[in-house]
Amino acid sequence: MKSLVIYSTQTGNTKKLAEAVYEIIGGEKKIYSIENAPDPAGYDFLAVGFWVKAGKPDPETLNYIPKIMNGKKLFFFATHGASTDSDHVKEAIKYAIDLAASAKIMGTFNCLGEVNPEFIKRMSEKSKQPVWIHNAPNAVGHPDKNDLENLKNIISSIIFDS
Ligand SMILES: Cc1cc2nc3c(=O)[nH]c(=O)nc-3n(C[C@H](O)[C@H](O)[C@H](O)COP(=O)(O)O)c2cc1C
Repeated sequence: MKSLVIYSTQTGNTKKLAEAVYEIIGGEKKIYSIENAPDPAGYDFLAVGFWVKAGKPDPETLNYIPKIMNGKKLFFFATHGASTDSDHVKEAIKYAIDLAASAKIMGTFNCLGEVNPEFIKRMSEKSKQPVWIHNAPNAVGHPDKNDLENLKNIISSIIFDS
């Protein structure tokens, strides 16, 4: 099986998840940032990681997902500032899944990702704030060791079962 790990990151959180996925998958494997992502056509299993921006996968990932075609096995992972089980995050992941309509979704994983303090400061000065920003302080230190272990366990179970 040929596997491809792709990640989009601004501040490094999603890259940490990508490296954990890459570490745990066996066989022939490649890892790329989204800027250098190859055509997914030559791979059997794809793990695509994004950060949530304005309630959706970040724009680079939104551009890439439609390239994944023909029943490819696909796993999404994501980091965000909103709480882990919020509708806000569920909707962002659903957005990604809906865009990948012709892929076979093998699973998803999401966890908190520390939010750029400059961004929090700028937002807190605005009268209208993003719905998720009140949760941003809880994201400090994430993804942490536990998050990475949880992700690795999920990836192992998928690979074992498939
Ligand atoms: C401009 C901007 C917009 C963001 N929008 C959201 C959002 O809509 N929902 C959310 O939960 N987190 C949002 N975040 C938080 C990021 O998704 C989170 O910090 C993520 O872990 C960043 O990942 P990275 O380090 O891989 O770039 C936003 C952060 C920035 C800087």
